Amino acid sequence: MARKLSCPFADSRALFEDLSAVRSKHSLQHDSVLKGLVISRYSDIVEVLDKPETFSSKPTIPPFPEPVRPIFAGKVPEKSTLLNWDNPDHDRLRLSVASFFVPRRLQRFEPEIKRLAHELVDGFVADGKADLKHSFALPLPLKVIATVAGLDPARWQWLGRSLALFGGHAEFRTGTIHEQVQGILDIHAYVAELIQERKTDRRDDLISHIWNERDKGLEMTDMEHLAMIPGLLLAGHETTTNLLSMGMSHLLHLGLWEKASKDDDSRKSALEELLRFESAVTGMRREALVETTIGGCPVAAGTQLFVAYNSGSRDPTRFPMPDVLDIDRQSVTQHLGFGRGIHACLGAPLARILLQIEMSVLAERLPGLRLDEEYSEIEYDHVHEARGISKLEVAWELPV
Ligand code: HEM
Repeated sequence: MARKLSCPFADSRALFEDLSAVRSKHSLQHDSVLKGLVISRYSDIVEVLDKPETFSSKPTIPPFPEPVRPIFAGKVPEKSTLLNWDNPDHDRLRLSVASFFVPRRLQRFEPEIKRLAHELVDGFVADGKADLKHSFALPLPLKVIATVAGLDPARWQWLGRSLALFGGHAEFRTGTIHEQVQGILDIHAYVAELIQERKTDRRDDLISHIWNERDKGLEMTDMEHLAMIPGLLLAGHETTTNLLSMGMSHLLHLGLWEKASKDDDSRKSALEELLRFESAVTGMRREALVETTIGGCPVAAGTQLFVAYNSGSRDPTRFPMPDVLDIDRQSVTQHLGFGRGIHACLGAPLARILLQIEMSVLAERLPGLRLDEEYSEIEYDHVHEARGISKLEVAWELPV
């Protein structure tokens, strides 16, 4: 139910249909489907994200349905990855992984990412056409994140399916509830075993890196160590798949692919604009812990918020002509594609490396890349905060 406040609120689904109309009328709107206030203006979003002590990221409903709680007890952490933690725990846990995710240190994975990308293209290049989402954009991030974390990349499909209960790609959200519950138990048992192995047998991966940090004195339980890894797959794989698929479909549709994929600088600049233009994460939830204001409007303690990154990144007060995909756009880096503040995307440097490699391998291997003639309409999939497209059918020139 809409709260009675002195600022104008409307009950509307328009946010996802006409962002500009929403922003110009009201910044904060009550949404009956999202069951909270939608924060749509760039400045208001920044205000919320910069005050994590006022606006909590902790989930408001218990993480698992009641019947599953005893089954998961002691085996599956109640909070996965970092998104669901407030401070002081959030910063302590983020410290365990932060120094792993710096661009300079991630460069060592580039040759392996390129190898995996070429291997996937080898599988379909002779066909002259493919659904790039399923043959390329979907498997690659899972294989890469598995590699970086220290899991077996050959098990990428199993990893994706095991996380079905917690979300992920539509094709992985299959099976009975019993199978999905078992999937969560299986993936956590697999990672827990690897964590124990790496305690004495360190490798160049994230599981070992966390052990190194613990050895240096970082306080962390085995359960918290476990919480970091499957959550990383959840946070990183669908987002990267969707960003590449949606981004490529825009570039091809608008005839910008050749220019965007020309060289490293063009790919870098095009990618940053795509991250602004098309939000793979439409927004995230927060809760006001105390009575406060946003953009001068009063907000009651306990109010649920949906911080609409897709709207903030298209706010004309921050980005001139925001609905134009301008791959030469200057000063685009303040977009909200990776969020902002203490919860800003941890994997952003890895996502940037991966997406740029994907663009360069596709440009090199698929000459004359174009949308397939039979594929004219982009169908969007929305699942919770994630946005993607169901397929990306393309064709390219074969050697004569
Ligand atoms: C957080 C987007 C790729 C790991 C976030 C947030 C956004 C985001 C918007 C902020 C959430 C919030 O405000 O609550 C994206 C997009 C990606 C991507 C668009 C791809 C294009 C990745 C990858 C990884 C990753 C590849 C890891 C391998 C995380 C983690 C957080 C996060 C762990 C939580 C950080 C924290 O709470 O401290 N991401 N992400 N993401 N992302 Fe990403």
